Amino acid sequence: MPFASHCKLGVNVDHIATLRQARRESEPDPVAAAQVCKASGADMIVCHLRKDRRHIQDQDLLRLCELKGETHLELSSDPEMVAAALRAKPASVCLVPETPREVTTLGGLNLLDAKDKAVENAVKKLKKAGIEVSLFVDPDPVSVRRAKALGADTVELCTTAYAAAREKKKAAAELETLALAGYLAHEMELGLHAGHALDYHNARAVARLPHMACLNIGFAIVSRSVFVGLKTAVTEMKQLIS
Ligand code: PXP
Repeated sequence: MPFASHCKLGVNVDHIATLRQARRESEPDPVAAAQVCKASGADMIVCHLRKDRRHIQDQDLLRLCELKGETHLELSSDPEMVAAALRAKPASVCLVPETPREVTTLGGLNLLDAKDKAVENAVKKLKKAGIEVSLFVDPDPVSVRRAKALGADTVELCTTAYAAAREKKKAAAELETLALAGYLAHEMELGLHAGHALDYHNARAVARLPHMACLNIGFAIVSRSVFVGLKTAVTEMKQLIS
């Protein structure tokens, strides 16, 4: 019998807000989209409040955090952004690197600069407020160990390199790298998530890695929803990774 995955699905609704912000109108509403996602099998709603507020707005975040069920916020460790998280009180936060004008998140956090206390301070403040903290890291052992030392509850492994691998051999090697980082995270009693650039072709293999608890996926689901509707796009992804 094939190994059954118990991997959860976090659906990122940022790009519903991207569409709304294109006209600065009230539709499509990311909160209404989140409700459709939940009704279609999403285990968690994810959003990224960016410093430039290019998609999700503070008011969206507050409303998403009022919904029943888990809202997971991606955020830079900038104190001003951490303050926004403390106001909204999501169930969990994933700290990510953020640079101005980047098109999307570019890789995991650099946790190796001992002088840079921003992540450490953010973890402390969030945990003190009872918010679970995940750190977005590249799938390497040093970053996973450092995430544990900084007090993270969970690591989210960056899947960009795996998703970008065009040849089978390269993709298998990247998957192995993710698997090894996942074993280490589990060994260190860290929760294990993965995400970024996952789609309907590459997500299943990541969901089936040992100890993988949740995949966070946005762009591929929202893109597919243009053709098949959000309900179907979420249901299909949920079936694919379960
Ligand atoms: N995980 C993290 C930490 C991210 O920053 C993002 C992008 O917001 C995602 C997952 C989702 O990536 P994608 O939109 O490519 O599925």
